[in-house]
Amino acid sequence: MNSRGDRDRPGIAFDPGCRACPRLAAHLDAVRAKYPDYHCAPVPAFGDPAARLLIVGLAPGEHGANATGRPFTGDYAGRLLYSTLYAFGFASEPESRAADDGLALTDCRITNAVKCLPPGNKPIGAEIRECNGFLQVEIAARPPKVLLALGRVAHDATLRALGLRQRDHVFGHAAVHRPAGQPVVIDSYHCSRYNTQTRRLTEAMFHDVFRLARAHL
Ligand code: URA
Repeated sequence: MNSRGDRDRPGIAFDPGCRACPRLAAHLDAVRAKYPDYHCAPVPAFGDPAARLLIVGLAPGEHGANATGRPFTGDYAGRLLYSTLYAFGFASEPESRAADDGLALTDCRITNAVKCLPPGNKPIGAEIRECNGFLQVEIAARPPKVLLALGRVAHDATLRALGLRQRDHVFGHAAVHRPAGQPVVIDSYHCSRYNTQTRRLTEAMFHDVFRLARAHL
């Protein structure tokens, strides 16, 4: 374990066979039994390995990323995300339909704070901490210029991965954090169905966040 209490995984940004979180492993087993055609395993990051923009989501959705094996793909939350990525020149298509649909991301990569499907879309603290080792390595291996955190859980996980104190960088929609010697961190409300349908997050608000991200690249 390292000083933050996370498991040390030197050099490993992703483990496709990870079963480190007993609750998540058991949940994946149960969902796999019900939907044998689903991916039902940790979902890897997707996109340009040399990306200057790294987007951090929460965790795979049951019938979306957990089914398709690509972040935000098949998830309602992916509709606004991929259409925005396309509008800002990061995606080759406005829609991500399946892991083999040929969609490519340029200068952008998407990952999740937690790589496995959590029950009720809610990972617990121990799972977020356990998975944070992957995010730490992912960021350190090729530091992006901008990290875009979708939602508070992603924000907290991103700060933890960077070794930053939460009290120095309070989450806020469209907040820009400029820690010395580190990537710029930009926050957005998560583009979830709930947030978009209640208009807590509108397309215009999300586009404003991407304008900010573009300006910092
Ligand atoms: N799908 C993902 O991959 N991540 C999210 O945060 C939501 C849906």
